[in-house]
This record gives sequence, structure tokens and C-alpha cells, in this order.
Amino acid sequence: MMYIIDTANLDSIRHCVEYYPVDGVTTNPTIISRENADFPKLIKDIRSIIGADRQFHIQVTGSTSRDIIREALAIRDFIGGNLYIKVPISAEGLRATVELKKLGLKVTETAIFTQQQALIAAKAGADFVAPYVNRLDNIVSDGVNVVGEIVQLFKEYNLPSKVLAASFKTVEQIHKIAMAGSHAITISPELFDTLTYHPMTLYAIDDFVADWESVYGKKTILEMFEEHK
Ligand code: E4P
Repeated sequence: MMYIIDTANLDSIRHCVEYYPVDGVTTNPTIISRENADFPKLIKDIRSIIGADRQFHIQVTGSTSRDIIREALAIRDFIGGNLYIKVPISAEGLRATVELKKLGLKVTETAIFTQQQALIAAKAGADFVAPYVNRLDNIVSDGVNVVGEIVQLFKEYNLPSKVLAASFKTVEQIHKIAMAGSHAITISPELFDTLTYHPMTLYAIDDFVADWESVYGKKTILEMFEEHK
């Protein structure tokens, strides 16, 4: 499963890329506006941190297929690399998706809330569909079930599209989505940190240190090898 960071904050991206096996970055207009920065410079900076090979999903703001395509091409020409144009699903978005695929761009159909939206986006050629798990849970729907059924539909109909599950608030949601077979998830930098944390792990590490020091004091493994030379 691919792990993607859902932020445009440069420090957070640097932190996650340095410490975690990150496959890319996703943004949307809300995430971008939180940084209150010059958009072209911001996406260029993100690209230079993550490199050309990691996925970078950038959302358009145009609402007609014409504007979506023009924005997508401008982003592609400016940023390059492994780029996915995020297009919110709508009739105009689907028309743009078909055209963008003909032009050789990769598309992530976003703001997906139903299995049928995902299926139609896949038929239009979307490389990824992004269902919003926590937002579904918040309206007393079942985000995990929606994602699981989208995965099944793509298998059933032999569609090459992948599921990039988005909108998470808990580690439990992430785990259930992994078990449902999602190809990728995008999560906040805070959730990356939470995913790897467990108090029992910290106790275990403290015990290892205490046991070592009870016999060898502060001497490190490297110092011991030095003594053997
Ligand atoms: C991802 O691309 C989505 O835009 C994002 O995950 C939505 O998350 P939120 O529901 O926490 O805003």
C-alpha cells in the first residue's frame, strides 16, 4: 500500500520524507490555502523536496472542463515529474478527465463519496479515485465499506484504476482501509507520527537500554568494536 502525505506544509513534508517511506504528496485548495503562500512557488518547493519520482497530486480549481484542462496543462508545464491532476468529480470533471488522459496526463478523481462515482471515474480513465473515509463516517455512512466495495468493483470489472483513500482521523480507519485492499492512502503528517507510536514500544526500548547499561554502562557497540581493533 502506498503512503502519501496530505499537506502542503514544507516543514512537515521535509520531516515525513526524511523519516518515513513516503510515496508522494496530495494537496487540495483547502490544504494550499492554509499555507497562504504563492501557489506556483509552493508547488515548486514541494517538488524539490520530494523529487521528480514521488507522486504529486495537485488539484485544479476550475469548474468547466475547459478551465480544468487549461489549469492542468499549466501545472504540468510548470512542475513536471510524477504528476497527478486532481479533479473533483462532476460532469465537467469527467469530460476533462477523458481529455486529460488523451493528452497524456495522469488524473486523480477526488471528492468521491459513492461506489458509483468511483466506477464512472474509473471508466472515464482516472488513474486514482479518492474516496473520503472520515467525511463518510461523519455523515453516519461507512467509509471502510465504501472503499472496500470500490476495490471489489475495480477487480470485478478489471479496471486499472487504483483507490487512493483520503480523509482520515484515526489509526483504526487507516488499518481497516488497508485490510479492505486500498492501493494507497493519504494522511496528515500528524497521523504518520501517530501510526508509528505505541507506548509498549517505548517501554520495550527503555528496557533494552536499561538492561544493556546494567552490564556495559554507557559503552556503545561502536566503541566495543573500536576496542577489538
Ligand atoms: C485528499 O486529497 C483530500 O482532499 C483530503 O484527504 C480530505 O481530508 P479532510 O476530510 O481531512 O479534509
